[in-house]
Amino acid sequence: MSFSLNVQQPLFQQVCIIGLGLIGASLAQAIKDKGLSKRLVAVDKHAPSINEACQQGLLDAGSSVLSDVVHGSDLIVIAIPVQAAQAVFVDIKKAMDSGQLTSDCIITDVCSTKVNIVHAATAVFEELPIGFVPAHPIAGAENSGYHARRAQLFVNHSVIICELPTTSYQAIADLSALWEAVGASVMMMSAEHHDAILAHTSHLPHLLAFNLVEQLASHDDNLDMFRYAAGGFRDFTRIAASDPKMWHDIFFANKSAIVSALDEYSVYLQEMRQLIIDEDSTALMGILGRAQAARRHFGHMLASTPYTDTSAMSASYIITPSNTVTGTIDIPGDKSISHRSIMLGSLATGVTHVTGFLEGEDALATLQAFRDMGVTIEGPTNGELTIHGVGMNGLKPSKTPLYMGNSGTSMRLLAGILAAQSFDSVLTGDTSLNKRPMERVAAPLREMGAVIQSTGQSGTAPLSITGRDSVGTPLQGTEYDMPVASAQVKSCLLLAGLWAEGVTTVIQPEVSRDHTERMLSAFGYDVTVEGNRISVKGGGTLTGGAIAVPADISSAAFFMVAAAISQNSELTLTQVGINPTRTGIIDILKLMQADISLSNKTHVGGEPVADITIRSSNLKGIEIPEYLVPLAIDEFPVLFVAASCAEGRTVLTGAKELRVKESDRIAVMADGLQTLGVECTVTEDGLIIEGKGTASQEGEINNNQPVFGGGHITSHHDHRIAMSFAVASLRASQQITIEGVETVNTSFPGFAELANHIGMSIEMHDSKA
Ligand code: S3P
Repeated sequence: MSFSLNVQQPLFQQVCIIGLGLIGASLAQAIKDKGLSKRLVAVDKHAPSINEACQQGLLDAGSSVLSDVVHGSDLIVIAIPVQAAQAVFVDIKKAMDSGQLTSDCIITDVCSTKVNIVHAATAVFEELPIGFVPAHPIAGAENSGYHARRAQLFVNHSVIICELPTTSYQAIADLSALWEAVGASVMMMSAEHHDAILAHTSHLPHLLAFNLVEQLASHDDNLDMFRYAAGGFRDFTRIAASDPKMWHDIFFANKSAIVSALDEYSVYLQEMRQLIIDEDSTALMGILGRAQAARRHFGHMLASTPYTDTSAMSASYIITPSNTVTGTIDIPGDKSISHRSIMLGSLATGVTHVTGFLEGEDALATLQAFRDMGVTIEGPTNGELTIHGVGMNGLKPSKTPLYMGNSGTSMRLLAGILAAQSFDSVLTGDTSLNKRPMERVAAPLREMGAVIQSTGQSGTAPLSITGRDSVGTPLQGTEYDMPVASAQVKSCLLLAGLWAEGVTTVIQPEVSRDHTERMLSAFGYDVTVEGNRISVKGGGTLTGGAIAVPADISSAAFFMVAAAISQNSELTLTQVGINPTRTGIIDILKLMQADISLSNKTHVGGEPVADITIRSSNLKGIEIPEYLVPLAIDEFPVLFVAASCAEGRTVLTGAKELRVKESDRIAVMADGLQTLGVECTVTEDGLIIEGKGTASQEGEINNNQPVFGGGHITSHHDHRIAMSFAVASLRASQQITIEGVETVNTSFPGFAELANHIGMSIEMHDSKA
């Protein structure tokens, strides 16, 4: 048994820390606590700190003079203000020359600027030592000094290590190991790049904070100003409480990078000043909206996670079986239509007002992408958006890769739009999206002359798209016979076709959802549909207008199945989209003898809608006709739950596409169903389910017998898997726990609340909370 849980192998024989201020003392404490060095010594002109550190057993030795303690050190950390560093290099050189230190001893620092540290060392050493590696932990606090030290200071912070041409590989490896051992993550960059980045991200904000506080303090009525200063002032100026001497030194040390950051900032500030003078509401909203979204969005981008962090799934549903659902409910907006409303609204001339927009993570990824390309979009507020269209040639290149989170629709449709733009673009997504096939759009786009690379491991994202300005010619219309009935592939090509020379025709093997075709027509663009051939002619324009997004039938499907499989149940789902290319779920449930009726049929924004009422039903197993597969493509996970509750066997074929959705929905559903005690057989392109429903007496509904046991299910980062098994709980004998339910937000924010409202019993748990 080991009692030294936190203690690692010493990485160093002796670490010498020069300067026991906040960073130096915190690093010393972390090294000591983790046992990372056999001996630990320090140098500081402030004798009380050294004495205290020795008495407390933090140091093995300490002094105000380097040569007293440095002998035998294999790592020296300079943790003093950058201006004092050159004198320390002189002492280190003496120690090397006198043999107190070996020539490969690692010499590093923790200063906030790097180019001048390199200059200081260059001025002292004729040839930079191979162990010299400048570094900068991006960690700090407003408090300073030995007593403020915290061994945890570096946990989850970044450390930038600046590799020089003279630095040995070993020095970098050993220093990286040290920083990782104290909880930091290491990034490498050049000293120049470091200084330019830090000037923008740290030095400029500090300068502005000091400046704003000073500005208020020097007002005549400064007492009133501070008395009434609201949270905004406090939040914005928190960092002005930092050490003035340190910042004074940093501003000089990184002079040229800070001055250029400040110049750039002044230009932006003047621009905003002018927008206010001119009362240019659209442009001002554009800047404010982009900034607000960027503030939220960058965090996700850096973590390479979707808006919902699938890599660290910690939320689960714990569902207690309940057996009846009743009520009349509104379902959130259609995901497919929401995506397209942003795309076409952005490319249109004039303003587009969208209502019923789905504020789920996937559609928000599309919205952010267009903001990143310079489109002003106001909202969403309660599903309402105002898009200030920039016209067919008004998109601007994004400064960063466009981040699609978990959304396949965003990536595939945008690939078509971007392949036609004058500028280069990169499209990327979270780990799960970056595993999904993208050649299905890249290959036909290449036939149109697009220069597009799927740079992932196997025809997968990130996608790198070369702009037409570099290629030199526009896209060419094509006729493409699609091997799979995919609305995303069809839409991608039709969208690219808007800019292509001539006509672009797609031929689909089966009917797939036609929202792109309908919305193009609604925006005044001619689309020709002849059976399964759909064509557009390049060079037209789109005209903005009003788009009302109907409720999403794919989300409604969970509640349709919920009512059908449970007892004494009746649900009415209001104003759900019943576009005939999406109603496969209704057709399949009807074939299974579900009791469904449609009422209040009308049209909303070019799409048919109706209220759907569904009651408890004795479902029967069926062979699902293959032509219905693309029309119910997203609904199969919950249809498998329905099939499990049906009397007899249900057979699905021709549904290979399910294997490349957010998860392999055939394999993952089969696993989950088996865990809950349902017999099923996976086939190459489908699933056979042995339903556990029993025959009923004439006219009676016998949905009171449990079909599922209890157990643990994992969602495999797939929203529809999580919601389908939640529905299964209505016929379960015991509690079902579903892990990783954050992704539900990609398509159905508020699902659990709505389910509970109609009688289910879902508790949401977050192990991170
Ligand atoms: C979608 C098309 C379908 C569907 C997806 C949304 C769309 O994908 O599964 O959820 O909005 O065009 P495929 O085109 O890959 O079948």
